[in-house]
Amino acid sequence: MPPCLAVGNWKMNTGVAEAVALASSIRNGLESPAPRGVETVICPPFISLAPVMDAISGSPIKLGAQNAYSRPSGAFTGEISPQMLADFCQYVILGHSERRHVMGEDEGLIAEKTVAAVAAGLQPILCVGETLEERQRGDAGAVTRRQIRTALAGVPTAGGLVIAYEPVWAIGTGVPATPAAVVDITAGAIREELADRYGETASSQVPVLYGGSVNPQNVADFLREPSIQGALVGGASLNAGQFIQIVRLTAEIKGPA
Ligand code: 13P
Repeated sequence: MPPCLAVGNWKMNTGVAEAVALASSIRNGLESPAPRGVETVICPPFISLAPVMDAISGSPIKLGAQNAYSRPSGAFTGEISPQMLADFCQYVILGHSERRHVMGEDEGLIAEKTVAAVAAGLQPILCVGETLEERQRGDAGAVTRRQIRTALAGVPTAGGLVIAYEPVWAIGTGVPATPAAVVDITAGAIREELADRYGETASSQVPVLYGGSVNPQNVADFLREPSIQGALVGGASLNAGQFIQIVRLTAEIKGPA
């Protein structure tokens, strides 16, 4: 079975003091009993990575970045390299829909970033998912497959990869996709593309997460599906109590019996 994850993407929220307070609350809330069988990952803004690393030090909580550039160093004003992040983080979110659609990142750049992140020893959490228009055209599966194929073209092995299926129309809307619509993609297009690329055995070990308006009330509906190994949580991860509930539900449903 692939590992299970609960990932909090804080996006462009929290100042440093607030980030440390939120991380500390999550740490305290998960201390006892410690949830088993789930990897808890929090992804604060870049400027809070160092202080949050201190705040969670000695706990099982892992740190992720929300983005990284494709080059190790150089004249790239405003960018952060995966090598710089590797001192703090185990994970990095790449290809998030806000990077694709708000910042205009294209699939070529996301592919370069994914290769660079792996080369720096980071585990990419590669986000894929269709827009509403693409869904309405009946292209959800084809778009998702293409996004995976292009992003992973230069990544030779599946070890360490995490895929997050985040349909754009379900992000930040309060209206998640239905579990059936998600499974159609997670068990279909995503698994098929990974298996074509890496073979059945290796690809079956890649965790596939769902993201898009996940909260403590709806997360169990997704976690009960065998093709979903956890959640990538935006808004609800800014509330320590809600995120802790999501982590605990993940452990209850996906963790050891
Ligand atoms: P919301 O949970 O706020 O819909 O955000 C989802 C997301 O984009 C996580 O990366």
